[in-house]
Amino acid sequence: MTETIVLLGSNGQIGSELAVALRAKFGVSNVITSDIREPKNLGEGEIFEAINVLDKEALKLLFEKHKPTQVYLLAAMLSATGEQYPLKAWDLNMNGLLNVLNLCVELGIKKVFWPSSIAVFGPHSPKVNTPQYCVMDPNSIYGISKLAGERLCEYYTEKYNLDIRSIRYPGIISWKTAPGGGTTDYAVHIFFEALAKGRYESFLSENTALPMMYMDDAVRATIQLMDAPAEKLRIRSSYNLAGISFTPTEIAQEVKKILPNFEMSYSQGDPRQAIADSWPQSIDDEYAREDWNWEIKYDLTTMTKDMIENLKNN
Ligand code: SER
Repeated sequence: MTETIVLLGSNGQIGSELAVALRAKFGVSNVITSDIREPKNLGEGEIFEAINVLDKEALKLLFEKHKPTQVYLLAAMLSATGEQYPLKAWDLNMNGLLNVLNLCVELGIKKVFWPSSIAVFGPHSPKVNTPQYCVMDPNSIYGISKLAGERLCEYYTEKYNLDIRSIRYPGIISWKTAPGGGTTDYAVHIFFEALAKGRYESFLSENTALPMMYMDDAVRATIQLMDAPAEKLRIRSSYNLAGISFTPTEIAQEVKKILPNFEMSYSQGDPRQAIADSWPQSIDDEYAREDWNWEIKYDLTTMTKDMIENLKNN
């Protein structure tokens, strides 16, 4: 069967690269990208529709026009910006998801991808090798919206027979499109600043370990999960994905191996520190490994090398 895909939030960090991979897999004209604003440039034959996912009527027209068989909803507000605008974050993250899910039920669109995050965990979750199932008491509005979203995904899968799939992404590191407003953004900024200025001031403290993942692995994981046979998937909330865990000190050391003059310093009192402190340091992803054969490819060293090479060449 030919798939037709609508990707909502295609200008963002993950959306922009997922769009490339989906177009390569399904054909340029079978992937309709969409975001609240026009992208800077569109490639040959690429179809884009400007839309606000909170505008349910417009979303309905978009789905009726393109008749997607799969919808990817990546439009969201991240953790740090969410703390500045909690009600807006809640509105976008929850009502965006509800609009998509309800329209999928109404229009018979079965397959949906929606991203969750390590932010669903909180201060009382185990910090090391955080398991799939444990105490979850997120204390950022972003984390609260992601946890509620996960419950909705499982609910709609069971109650309305949708085929919703989701990953709890770690912090994503990429060179093509910068992340915006997240707590894990330091691990992307460090590369840009290392090359531009030779130094970086981290807003997270030296020993704050967080799970991260290189974009290539994140995109590959997403497509692998969407390809997996439905009957293999035991998790219909969202899959833990471990990625690679490291601290600001450890990534700085890796950068220094390639750029020996690089200098790292640390600021204090940034509100993102408290968010990071409430999140896991490392994740256990046995369900992803068992259910859809997930295997990570990049470690801290290979990722650092690839990031710097790509940033230098582009
Ligand atoms: N990268 C996100 C953030 O920092 C977490 O999902 O907000």
